[in-house]
Amino acid sequence: MTESRPSASTAQSDAAARRAAWSAYWQAGALHSCVGSWSGNYGGAIAAFWSRSFAALANGARVLDLATGNGPLPQLLLQQRPDDAALRIDAVDAAALAPAWYRADAQPRLRFHQGVAMEALPFADGSFDLVTSQYGFEYADRAPALAELLRVLAPRGGVALVMHHAGSVLVEVARSELRHQARLLADDGLLAAAAAVVPWFALARAGGNPGADPAARRARAAYNAAQQALSTAIAGEHAPDLLVDVRDAVHRLVAATGADPAPTLAALADWRAGLGNAALRSRELVACALHPGDVADLRDAIVTARGGGVTVAELGQEEGVLGWSLESA
Ligand SMILES: C[S@@+](CC[C@H](N)C(=O)[O-])C[C@H]1O[C@@H](n2cnc3c(N)ncnc32)[C@H](O)[C@@H]1O
Repeated sequence: MTESRPSASTAQSDAAARRAAWSAYWQAGALHSCVGSWSGNYGGAIAAFWSRSFAALANGARVLDLATGNGPLPQLLLQQRPDDAALRIDAVDAAALAPAWYRADAQPRLRFHQGVAMEALPFADGSFDLVTSQYGFEYADRAPALAELLRVLAPRGGVALVMHHAGSVLVEVARSELRHQARLLADDGLLAAAAAVVPWFALARAGGNPGADPAARRARAAYNAAQQALSTAIAGEHAPDLLVDVRDAVHRLVAATGADPAPTLAALADWRAGLGNAALRSRELVACALHPGDVADLRDAIVTARGGGVTVAELGQEEGVLGWSLESA
């Protein structure tokens, strides 16, 4: 059986859903997309790569950061070059952003452009001395995004990218989170069972006697079974943090249900929406991660278009492979 291609309207609604999921993530205030791995800005091998790349910039350079999120890379660059008053950074992302650390009047060297796709950049040809992206470029429709990247790059400009690697520890974590998210969101999962039992808890709080109703007893039994199944899964998991967090949060919410079930049901719906968005981001990460052939194709396309050398390497540290780095000479 051949795989059918998504229709144009499916692709558009997928793109809109991805934009919405990322917008919700950035509005919640994270600086970057890997807060589980680096609590502040990026550190370790990733920070070292960027520090080396930024050190080669001349004063007053123009830098473009693609798929910037809430601007972790611009932040690193501004911190590394406090005296480079003429430095100009443009930072674009398809999503709606909310970089809490940024004030336009306090950081005049940086401009964010939200709602801007890498495949259609609003900049003149040859504008930038360096184009960067951290876990971003690989999310694009790569051929048109590369054409745009090369169009806006100055003739002697450079490219520096860190991209997801199909064999990285981050992809491994995303795969296991996908399993956890699917378990929690399943029709017989904890969130559905909790939403079904809450109205009966509320009835009891209001002085009713739900125990007399077989439907209430079934909902209670299903909720207990979902809690039990989750505890069993947690015991068998190497990194069950998400399952533990959701189990405990749902338990607290259900236990605090009052005579009106609406607030608890709304909080459960928020959890469901948040987990749905997180699952979408995990799926996207796994799907975008590059295999050796993908990154070789990207390198070859840049070399063909511009000549010169392009270096591709695995970026890793003690925990394992973190991604691919790609740098033009
Ligand atoms: C994994 S996040 C990385 C963000 C940031 N660079 C970081 O290191 O935290 C990927 C970002 O790519 C953005 N994105 C995905 N496809 C895009 C596109 N075609 N054009 C612009 N941004 C895109 C998403 O909105 C998201 O903010």
